Amino acid sequence: MSKERAEKDTVAYKVEGGIAWVRFNRPEKRNCMSPKLNRQMMRVLDELEFDDAAGVLVLTGEGDAWSAGMDLKEYFRETEAKGMGAIRQSQREAYGWWRRLRWYQKPTIAMVNGWCFGGGYGPLYACDIAVAAEEATFGLSEINWGILPGGGATKVASDLMPMRKAMYHAMLGENIDGRTAEAWGLVTEAVPLSGLRNRVAEIAARLLEKNPVALKATKDAVRRVMDMTYDNAEDFLVRAQEAANSFDNEGRKEGIRQFIDDKSYKPGLAAYDKTKQKK
Ligand code: ACO
Repeated sequence: MSKERAEKDTVAYKVEGGIAWVRFNRPEKRNCMSPKLNRQMMRVLDELEFDDAAGVLVLTGEGDAWSAGMDLKEYFRETEAKGMGAIRQSQREAYGWWRRLRWYQKPTIAMVNGWCFGGGYGPLYACDIAVAAEEATFGLSEINWGILPGGGATKVASDLMPMRKAMYHAMLGENIDGRTAEAWGLVTEAVPLSGLRNRVAEIAARLLEKNPVALKATKDAVRRVMDMTYDNAEDFLVRAQEAANSFDNEGRKEGIRQFIDDKSYKPGLAAYDKTKQKK
């Protein structure tokens, strides 16, 4: 594609069977993130967040890349040429949608189908679950072109990987495959590329069975408690459940009823049938 892609075409999505499949859509540029893509992604996230047809959001890439990180030409060189105001605006646009995704209303899954570099670690971390192709390639390539891994990438590596692995990964700029990314804690699991979509669809289907209020409370709680003391976390979790009860006070009662009274399921083995829950 020689003609420049219109802003609205930099992200593609479709909603199918309760799953919003959202794709970085600049395959000819290995889905690197330009200011246009960052703005469009925020619009798409806005559109889907409270769409009842979508219960889970999957973020993947068109073609053979997930995302080759920030666009070195459009995000860095061209923005820098416009001065500090433009630089800060571009940073806000990128960090803004990653932050939005970290606290998204719905469960999110990164389906990493190929290249994932540098700035790509921001949205990767933002997704609740990350499933990679074993054949995918991950790298903090910043050091290879002369910068530190910024935009959160160093934080992602240090939060998710053991320190020795994070340090090596950031300093050497050597790539790792999906299996190593799983072993180092960067992704939840790695599967062969041929089975990637099915595995993600399977996880999404399991999530769709769960109580959505409990899921949102749970995903936020996992991120929030990470930097709390035990006592603060204990207190926060009591308040978080009480707050969740104000959105849905019947779910957990129904969950107990179906187990204790109906004996129709076992919470240790599956989720209760939320279709029978009083609204
Ligand atoms: N920024 C700008 N353009 C990019 C980027 C990027 N991050 N990644 C790929 N492209 C462009 C290429 O310039 C090329 O454009 P052209 O067709 O106009 O020449 C096109 O996408 C295809 O890229 P190729 O390099 O030809 O694709 P190939 O499949 O051979 O290699 C690879 C893929 C390894 C991902 C390579 O493109 C690459 O190294 N990209 C840069 C990865 C990177 O370091 N990203 C920055 C991380 S640091 C950060 O995000 C802050």
